[in-house]
Amino acid sequence: MSAISVSQLCKSYDGRQAVNELSFEVEKGETFALLGPNGAGKTTTIEILEGYRKADSGSISVLGLNPQTDGAELKRRTGLVLQTTALEPELTIWETISAFARLYERPRNIQTVLVDVNLAHLRDNRVGNLSGGQKRRLEIALGIVGDPELIFLDEPTTGLDPEARRKIWTLIQSLNANGCTIVLSSHYMDEVQALANHMAIMVDGQIAAEGPPRELQRQHCTHSTIRFDVGDKLPHGFPAKLVADTVVLDGHAELVAEDPTAILSVLSLWSHDTGYDLSSISVTRQSLEDIYLQLVSQRQGNPQGGPP
Ligand SMILES: Nc1ncnc2c1ncn2[C@@H]1O[C@H](COP(=O)(O)OP(=O)(O)OP(=O)(O)O)[C@@H](O)[C@H]1O
Ligand SMILES: [Mg+2]
Repeated sequence: MSAISVSQLCKSYDGRQAVNELSFEVEKGETFALLGPNGAGKTTTIEILEGYRKADSGSISVLGLNPQTDGAELKRRTGLVLQTTALEPELTIWETISAFARLYERPRNIQTVLVDVNLAHLRDNRVGNLSGGQKRRLEIALGIVGDPELIFLDEPTTGLDPEARRKIWTLIQSLNANGCTIVLSSHYMDEVQALANHMAIMVDGQIAAEGPPRELQRQHCTHSTIRFDVGDKLPHGFPAKLVADTVVLDGHAELVAEDPTAILSVLSLWSHDTGYDLSSISVTRQSLEDIYLQLVSQRQGNPQGGPP
């Protein structure tokens, strides 16, 4: 069953289209990730879904509700971590979370929430004295304190140190394991691959590719690069049938192929016959990050969007 259904959503600011006929579905229990460059329209989309912004046109259903007209019920049932939040600097962490908890019918235990975001030791610190990463963890605490059915996390780990990021990943995974549907935006492919079972790459207000990360990888990551050290030019006697497809760059030779096995067998035979040292050889499959960069580059009108 769908937790979120978006159809033909449009939003422009001062005549400039930020979200352009966007359609997607998020199933209950999924972790759905929106990935896209700065200005792609991720925050605009999330804020419309949460009822914080009004769409120009299109239809949206969130937990069966209309964010424009059912805002109060939606806020009770969802959690929200905005890209930036204005908090009261004079309040302590504990006071801030307590104030938020009162907005919900069945809030989670505040001490448990503090432990979840690793802020228990700072509970009496004033918000105005927190570091950027500590403030982000507090914002995540505010998103989860209402024990939501659905949580929106707009770049939850931007600005966090690597250990804090991993802890937030674990928290998001455990929320999801307990049945919470997660919608997150991110600039980090490793984060999306670790957390999401459904992702969409958004460019210029539209979805450029969508599906489970593994499926996108299977569909798009079709090429491998074979690389080995050669100095400044191909060695004498290099297999003639590979010369046309081999590029020499910064001291190494590169060949790009859909199936690298035939090339590898030619190279290994040549190395065996001539004694040429191929111990530096590596084979790298295209990654989802490569595909992401390629899609963004193609959509933004840069023709150099071929396989790396
Ligand atoms: N309040 C606003 N007024 C005018 N233009 C806006 C406003 N908010 C966003 N925009 C514009 O809409 C487009 C989409 O912005 P949005 O914040 O949704 O992108 P984003 O994908 O979240 O980017 P980022 O990765 O930088 O957070 C951008 O061109 C932005 O300049
Ligand atoms: Mg944003």
